[in-house]
Amino acid sequence: MYMTIQQIHDRLKEVLSPKRFKHSLGVMETAVKLAAQYGVDAKKAELAGLLHDCAREMAVEDILKICRQNNIKMDDISLMQPKLLHGPAGSIVAREVYGIEDEEILSAIYCHTTGRKNMSTLDKIIFLADYIEPGRDFPGVDKVREAVFEDLDKGMVVSLMGIIRHLVEKRGLIQIDTIDTWNFIINSYREKEIL
Ligand SMILES: [Fe+2]
Ligand SMILES: [Fe+2]
Repeated sequence: MYMTIQQIHDRLKEVLSPKRFKHSLGVMETAVKLAAQYGVDAKKAELAGLLHDCAREMAVEDILKICRQNNIKMDDISLMQPKLLHGPAGSIVAREVYGIEDEEILSAIYCHTTGRKNMSTLDKIIFLADYIEPGRDFPGVDKVREAVFEDLDKGMVVSLMGIIRHLVEKRGLIQIDTIDTWNFIINSYREKEIL
């Protein structure tokens, strides 16, 4: 089934809380700007941004069920924080409920929460737009925004520094995929000067 972006917009507005819906629009808006800057298809960025949290407010049991039925890999750490599986589950929902067939869009939704190895430009754009959309407010967010618009990989490094530091400070779990993301990005970014 094919849905227009307006139909997707209207359906999400119905199923998401007002706060989450507003966040989704913020991610969409930021993703479109980043797509223009980094030469990515704006339509793909728009759809991925709008839909990235389509499974975010589903019950944990439903998220787990979708993951199990679709053979999504679930390691020990993600099973300890099953809500984080709303990315992978969201890629399934985006396909089955919202009619998205484009693998690049589905990939960006899949990995938006933790990142992963070998992220595409669109994957990075959605991951970063989620972190810096206009509704986000945390100490240093403007520095992160600046870095993201200056250089996408620099944005990834700066964001991951903030994300991982925050997790360590609150004694939180760090997903394996997030560590993989850090290692992949820092390996290609090492030679450039940063912060
Ligand atoms: Fe999310
Ligand atoms: Fe989000």
